[in-house]
Amino acid sequence: MTLSSPAVVGEDRAYLDFVLGMKQYFATTLYAKLHDQYASSGTLGDLPSYPLFEWLERNTQKMMWRRLEALIRPHAPELEAGLDELPERPLGSLCLDPSLKLPEHYTETEFHIQPGGVWSGAANTFVYEAGAKIVMLGQNDDYRFHRVFVETAIPPGEYRDILDLGCGFGKSTRPFVDAFPTACVVGVDLSAPNLKLAHLQAERLGKPIAFYQRAAEATGFADASFDLVTATMLIHEMPMRVLRKVLAEALRVLRVGGVLAVLDFAHTGDRFRDLVMDGHGARNNEPYMPHLFKTDVPALLSEVGFGAPRVLPFDERGGGLCLDGRWPARSDWHFPWVVIRATKR
Ligand SMILES: C[S@@+](CC[C@H](N)C(=O)[O-])C[C@H]1O[C@@H](n2cnc3c(N)ncnc32)[C@H](O)[C@@H]1O
Repeated sequence: MTLSSPAVVGEDRAYLDFVLGMKQYFATTLYAKLHDQYASSGTLGDLPSYPLFEWLERNTQKMMWRRLEALIRPHAPELEAGLDELPERPLGSLCLDPSLKLPEHYTETEFHIQPGGVWSGAANTFVYEAGAKIVMLGQNDDYRFHRVFVETAIPPGEYRDILDLGCGFGKSTRPFVDAFPTACVVGVDLSAPNLKLAHLQAERLGKPIAFYQRAAEATGFADASFDLVTATMLIHEMPMRVLRKVLAEALRVLRVGGVLAVLDFAHTGDRFRDLVMDGHGARNNEPYMPHLFKTDVPALLSEVGFGAPRVLPFDERGGGLCLDGRWPARSDWHFPWVVIRATKR
C-alpha cells in the first residue's frame, strides 16, 4: 500500500531542487536587497527589485505544484485504492461524512495556489503532502515545526482529550500522541482524502488518533468534551465570520480551564515585513489573510467568551514560542508565525 507521495528522484529531484534554490534566493539575497531599497525609498511597489521578488515567489510556487502534479497525478488510481484499504485492527478510527456540504469559500479557492485544493481527489492530498515537505525551504524535515509547537507552545497540563481542528493529513495531530500518550487525540478536517491519508499514516506509525470529517465551526462533539483545542495553519484560510464561529465552537467543546492554542500568521509591526506579508497573501492565493491581519484576534477571543487571550511570536527554526514577545532576529524572509492562546473560564 502506498502511503506517501512517490519518491522524487532523477530529473524531478533536479527540477525541484532548482525550484527550491530559487525560493532560497528570493528569501535571502533578493529579500535583503529589497530591504535595503525600502530603507532608502519607503514605497514597496516602486522598488526596482520588487517585480522580480513577486514573480519569483508566485512562480516558484506554481512550478513546484505543477511538477508534483505531473509526478503524482498519473498514479492517482493506485493512490486512491491505497487510501481506501483500511487497516484490519486499527488503533484509531476514521469517520467520513459523504453528506457533509463543503463550504463555498473552501471549494472556490485554490489556497496556496494548489490546483484543485486539498480536497478534490486522492492525488491532491499526496501532492499537498509532497509540497508541504518542500515549501518550508527544506527546514521542516520530520515535521520538526509541529513537534516544536507541541513542545513549546502548549502550556504544561493534564490533557485527557485533545482536538486538532483542520488536521490536514495529520502531521499537526501526531505530535500530540507523543507528547500526551495517555490522552485521546482527535483530528477533524473537511477533506476526505486528507483524513484517509491521516488515518493510514497514523496507523502505520502506531499512533491512535480518531479522525472525523467535520467542519471546525460545527464539530458535532458534546459541550465540554476537550481540555485542549488546537489549530495550526487553519485560521488564515477562512472568512472572519467563519473564524468567529470556529472560536465559539472551540469554546463550546472545551471544559472549564481548557486551553485553545492556535498557530498561524500575524503582522509583526515591522512595516516592511508586514507589507511583504500582505503581498505574500495575494501572490499565494490566500484571500482571507488580509482580513485576519486586520482583525484584533485577542479582542475577538474575548468577545466570544475566552479568557486570557495572548499572542506570542513563534520561531519555528529556533526555540519555538518566544515568551519574551520578541520576533526572532533573522535577516531572511520567513513567515511571521504566532501562537494565539486563550483559556475557557
Ligand atoms: C494549511 S492546512 C493545515 C493542516 C494541518 N493543521 C497542518 O498544520 O499540517 C489547512 C487544513 O484545514 C482544513 N480546513 C480548512 N477549513 C476548514 C474548516 N472550516 N473545518 C475543518 N477543516 C478545515 C483544510 O482541509 C486543510 O487540511
